[in-house]
This record gives sequence, structure tokens and C-alpha cells, in this order.
Amino acid sequence: MARILLGVCGGIAAYKAAELVRLATERGHAVRVVQTPTSVRFVGRATFEAITGAPVLVDEFEPDPLRGAYPGEEMPRHQPISHLALVERCDVYCIAPATANTIAKLVAGQADSLVTTAALACRAPVVVAPAMNDAMWRNVFTSANVERLRAAGIVVVEPETGRLASLGEWGAGRLADPERILAVLESTLAGGQGRSPEPAALPASGEAQPNALAGKRVLVTAGGTREPLDAVRFIGNRSSGRMGVALAAAANKRGARVTLVGANLAVPPPVGVEHVAVETVAELSAALDERFPSCDVLLMAAAVSDFRPADAARVKLERGERLAIELEPTEDIVAGLASQRRAEQLVVGFAAEHGGDFVARARTKLARKGLDAIVANDVSVPGIGFDSTENAVVIVTADGVERRVERQAKSAVAEAVLDEVERLLVTRAAR
Ligand SMILES: Cc1cc2nc3c(=O)[nH]c(=O)nc-3n(C[C@H](O)[C@H](O)[C@H](O)COP(=O)(O)O)c2cc1C
Repeated sequence: MARILLGVCGGIAAYKAAELVRLATERGHAVRVVQTPTSVRFVGRATFEAITGAPVLVDEFEPDPLRGAYPGEEMPRHQPISHLALVERCDVYCIAPATANTIAKLVAGQADSLVTTAALACRAPVVVAPAMNDAMWRNVFTSANVERLRAAGIVVVEPETGRLASLGEWGAGRLADPERILAVLESTLAGGQGRSPEPAALPASGEAQPNALAGKRVLVTAGGTREPLDAVRFIGNRSSGRMGVALAAAANKRGARVTLVGANLAVPPPVGVEHVAVETVAELSAALDERFPSCDVLLMAAAVSDFRPADAARVKLERGERLAIELEPTEDIVAGLASQRRAEQLVVGFAAEHGGDFVARARTKLARKGLDAIVANDVSVPGIGFDSTENAVVIVTADGVERRVERQAKSAVAEAVLDEVERLLVTRAAR
């Protein structure tokens, strides 16, 4: 059984948080509650204290009579040094209901209450269940904020559509059913963050979505860029372009209109696909700037050089003494495109990571670059990735899926990536 910290914000649905606490304690979880000052005007501490059997904290400066312990635990002998002992000890932090105000603060990294400070300090998974009226939920700033929560790896329990708390109001924004919030919490606790927190009607990872790509304009990049060193030499990488070519071929078979921007491909582009050949990062960037606005999906599989020689010689350099080459960073093309995309466009990045916790690093890139999904592989493993016919990847999506695709032919990996792209397209269209 888990230690659940619940943050309650100031909205009418605060009364439903009491039901969530009741359900969670009935299931044997130890629950502690922190409230925003506004939420106390909707539901007082006494309600939560009665159900949890533990004090509720509102003010960052008030000492916790239980010294950070959860119900059923022995109280620590010493007063904790930090006012954040509760969040440090929790297995999951759930904010429900989450107001538009608190969501905006979370995204901005603000810490002006115990609820928001706890979110910033939290090392455990964070689950946010928004609740507000229809107009607030559909507001452009709220939508963008919710997307950013997802992109940061926070699980968002989508509110439901129906009658809202205010008299006569109907629409999207009603707090998800407490049973569903609890199910998401338990799935998150079980390490199943990959399971969709969306309502059941939305597709799950791996579920076939026939025809979701049919007629869509898909832009794929493949290969490895080359940055000139002098008139005949370049700095490049070992990418053959096979992964991107496999993606282009698979998307073409699924009925998409595909453009492949190929950087120095070692394999021929697939038949039936428009091919644009480029060599350098600058050429790749220019080709994408031209075509990205009209595409529905960008699959950024090319291995793009992170550096280029600051001063490429125009002539062939002659043999001679030791030569130092100064490199300058190239632009982050995919992050730039993701920042200017339309809401309905999907941007999928690829990350070739070398060893260690490569999935964690890819997840950070996903969030930093504002992508919808990232396909990560560990290039320290021999025989996969660069210049090979096989790959093994982990697909991480901004809506919480983490799908491991074991080592197999790149054509099969491409199908798995497109399955996830189709699921994202269907999910987005349903919103
Ligand atoms: C009667 C009433 C109901 C409200 N209901 C909501 C709500 O459901 N969702 C929401 O985001 N804000 C709602 N608000 C506005 C919030 O209370 C307000 O934004 C407040 O600053 C939220 O503070 P907090 O996020 O620190 O709890 C409501 C305000 C009032 C007066």
C-alpha cells in the first residue's frame, strides 16, 4: 500500500477530493492532505482530517504534528528539518482538483504555497486532475499549460464533459471521477505510467488505429548530415538513413503522402515517396522550414550534427603541422520547429543516446524540446542503430506512454513507431 499525498485546490470540486481520500483509504493507502488557502474556503481541514486520521497542512510555516509521518507509520523522533517532509516521503503526489491558477503556477515553477512548493520539490510521480468551468478549460493559456505539464512528464487526468458544478453550466472541465483518479494513481504507482490516463474511449498504446495516417502529410528526415571541413573533407556520422527510409516506406504503405528529406543516404529512398536530398545541417533546416508548415507529422530520424567547423576552408587543406579545428554548435532544428507548430501537428524526435539511463535522458529531451514523442536508442549496444539493419528502441510520448521495442529489423521498428504516431493522432483528434 502506498503513501499518497493529496494537494487540494480552491474550486467547487474540492468536495470530491473528500471522496477520493475515502476511496484511497478504503483501499489501504496512507493518505495525507495539503490544501491551498483558497481551498479551505470550499472544504475545511476537518473533513480531510476525519477521513485520513491525520492533520492537514495549509501553511508552509506551520509544524506538522506528525513530523511528516503517514497514517500507520511511526512518528519520527525528531522534528523534520524541512517543511517538505510530507512530499519527500510520498510515493505519489496527486493534485485534485487542480485549479487553472495552480496549473499555471506549476508550469511557471512557482512555489508560493505548500501545494505548489511540494510539487516543485517532489521526486515521486505527480498526477494532476484539473477541474474548472468549460471556458477556463478551453482557454488558450490553460490548454498550453496543460500540454506543458504533460511534456514535463506529469500525468494529467483529463477532466470529463458533462454537467458542471455551477448552476446550469455544461461542458468540459468536470473533475474526473474519483474512482478513475484513483485508478490512475494506482497505475502510476505500479510503474504503469505508460498506461493511458485518458478516458477509456481513447486508444491505448499498441492498439491498432487503422487509417489514422491515410491522407496525412508526413515529413521524414533520414541519414546523417555532413559539415565541410575544407573543399573535400567533412565531419559526419555513421548514419545510413535506413531507419528514416523504413519510416518513410511504412508511412507510404499506410496511405500517407510522404516527403523524405535525406541527408547523404547510403540506401535508396523508397518508391512512391518524394525525396529531397540535402547535405548539411543548414540545408536540412532550410528544406524543413519550407515543408514543415504544410505537414501533419514530422518524424525527425536524421542524425543531425551538433557541431560544425567554425571556419571551413574553401580549398583543400595541405598536409602539414598539427591542426586544431574550432567547432561551433549547430541550431536545434527539431526544437525550433516544435516551438512554432500548429496545435494539431505531431513532432517526433529521435535520440541516439550512449549508455546509462538513456531513457531518462531522452525523456528530458522530450520535455525540453516540446516534442510529442521521442524514439530513443542506446547506441553503445553493438549491432543496433547507426549503419545497421536492426534497431531496438524505447518510444516515450508526452502523454505518458513508454513502449520498449525489442531488437528487430528497422522495418518492424518503423511499424511500432507509426502505431504510436497513429494513436497520438487519434487521441488528439478526440480532444
Ligand atoms: C465559487 C468559486 C468557484 C470556483 N471554482 C473554480 C474551479 O472549479 N476551478 C478553478 O480553476 N478555479 C475556480 N475558482 C477560482 C479559484 O478559486 C481561484 O483561481 C483561486 O485563486 C485558486 O487558488 P488555488 O489555485 O491556490 O487554490 C472558483 C472561484 C469561486 C469563487
